[in-house]
Amino acid sequence: MDKKKIIIINGPNLNLLGKREPEIYGASGFEEYFLELQKHNSDLLIEYYQSNIEGKLVNKIQETEGKFDGIILNAAAYTHTSVAIHDAIGAISVPVLEIHISNIYKREEFRHKSIISSKCVGMISGLGLKGYQLALDYFKTIKRKK
Ligand code: DQA
Repeated sequence: MDKKKIIIINGPNLNLLGKREPEIYGASGFEEYFLELQKHNSDLLIEYYQSNIEGKLVNKIQETEGKFDGIILNAAAYTHTSVAIHDAIGAISVPVLEIHISNIYKREEFRHKSIISSKCVGMISGLGLKGYQLALDYFKTIKRKK
């Protein structure tokens, strides 16, 4: 059986991980962490995409149709604002797992509402970068869509 294909999509400001508010988001950059993820999950094919631009994230989500078995999506600030990303997730059949590095419910009230959750299979929030590994573990266990 060929390997499952998973894409990690990170939204705005997550290109600054390691530099941005390290007390909240930690001291590691995502690129190094991504290489570790690839190394430790050689049973999966994992791609990574980051953009600060809402429309590019929408395009990327649309493009996954028929090409990936799962999306791990940290829509970052767009989580709380983007009807377009909510609709893009609703428009595809690829399962999307929502992820946040910080616990959004422990933070400012405007972060407590996720617009995208209702279209996602589930959410991991507050477990730091480890959440991405747990999300990969989830996709390893589920039956792939035909
Ligand atoms: C975040 C939480 C969001 O509220 C915030 O805007 C981010 C990152 C997280 O990973 O904890 O940029 O999605």
